[in-house]
Amino acid sequence: FTDDAEFITCDSPVNIALIKYWGKRDEKLILPLNSSISVTLSQDELRARTTVAVSRNFKEDKMWLNGREQSMKNARLQSVISNIKRLCRKRKSDNDQVNDKLQWKLHICSENNFPTAAGLASSAAGYACLVYALSKLYGVDGDLSKIARMGSGSACRSIYGGFVIWNKGEAEGGEDSKAEQIVSETHWPDLRVLILVVSDQTKHTGSTVGMQTSVETSQLLQQRLQGVPKQLEKIKCAIQNKDFHSFAEITMRDSNQLHAVCMDTYPPVSYLTDISHHIIQLVHAINQDNNSNMVAYSFDAGPNAFLFLQEKDVPTVIDILHYFYPSSDPNFIRGLQVPAKRDVHV
Ligand code: PMV
Repeated sequence: FTDDAEFITCDSPVNIALIKYWGKRDEKLILPLNSSISVTLSQDELRARTTVAVSRNFKEDKMWLNGREQSMKNARLQSVISNIKRLCRKRKSDNDQVNDKLQWKLHICSENNFPTAAGLASSAAGYACLVYALSKLYGVDGDLSKIARMGSGSACRSIYGGFVIWNKGEAEGGEDSKAEQIVSETHWPDLRVLILVVSDQTKHTGSTVGMQTSVETSQLLQQRLQGVPKQLEKIKCAIQNKDFHSFAEITMRDSNQLHAVCMDTYPPVSYLTDISHHIIQLVHAINQDNNSNMVAYSFDAGPNAFLFLQEKDVPTVIDILHYFYPSSDPNFIRGLQVPAKRDVHV
C-alpha cells in the first residue's frame, strides 16, 4: 500500500456446526429457519486472513480472494460493507476524520490457509474476518454478528469463540437473529477435532442453492425443523456437562439428518462421497468396539469430515486412521485444538 493508506489485518477461524443451519426464511436478510449451535476452532490451522485498506488515492473499490481479483458487484459483500458504514455513521457523525475515511475507496485482500468453498466453512471464516477487520478500520464496535450474518449465515457464529448458538430470532427485520456464546473456550479444554480433507475441490452445489432447493422440495426438512429445538436443548446440556458420549451421538445424528434432507431434496444434493461414507462406518466401528462413543463425525456441505474426540483418544484414533488410509496425503489429517478462543490478531 502507499504511505497514505490506512490498513488493518485480522485473522478469523472457522466454526463447525454441531446442530446445523439448513434453510432460510428470508434470503436477502439471511434469516434461518432453525437455530444452530457450533464450536469455533483454533485459528492455528484453518483461518481466513483479511487486510482492509482505505486511501484518498485509491480510485475504486477492489477485492482479491486468494490472490485473484473478484468482482465487487456481490450483493452480500455490498450489504456487509454498507451495514458497517451505516453503523459507523450512526456512532461517529461528528468526527470529520472518520467521515473522510468513509468516503475513501476500499481495498480488501483475503486469503484462506485451507481449501476454499470445499465444505470447510471458508465463507464463515471469511465474512467474520471481513466484518471484524472493517469494524476496526472504521472504529465501530457493537453486535457484529448480525452484520457477519448478512455475508454468510454461518459467519455470525465465527464472531465468538467457544461454543456458540445462532438464535434464529422472530423479528421480520432480523434484529434478534444473532449469535451468542454458550460457554467460553476454556470450558471443555480437552476436546479436539481432526479434519479429514477428503477432497479440496470446490463443492458442486453451494450451500445457498442447496438449502434453497431443500426448502422448496424436501418434506423431510419440515420434519427436521420440528425436532431441532429439542436437539438444541440436548446438546447444550451435553456441552454444559462435558458429556462426550451424548455430545457425540447428537452431533452425528444431526449431520446424518442434514445429509438425509439433502438426499430428500429434488433433484437430490449429494455432498458425501464413498470415502465420507467409509469414515462414517469406521467411526461407528470404533465406537462399538469401545462400548461408548470415542469419536464423532460431522459433515457440512462437502465430503470432508470433522472428527470430534477427547485429547486422551487422539493417538489411538490417528493410528486407526493411518491404518485405514495409509497412503493418504500428509494434509489429509489436520488436527487442532477446540474449542478455541475467538482470538483475532490485529
Ligand atoms: O452459511 P452458509 O451459507 O455457508 O451455510 C452453512 C451451512 C452448513 O455449513 C452446512 C451448516 C452450518 O450451520 O454451518
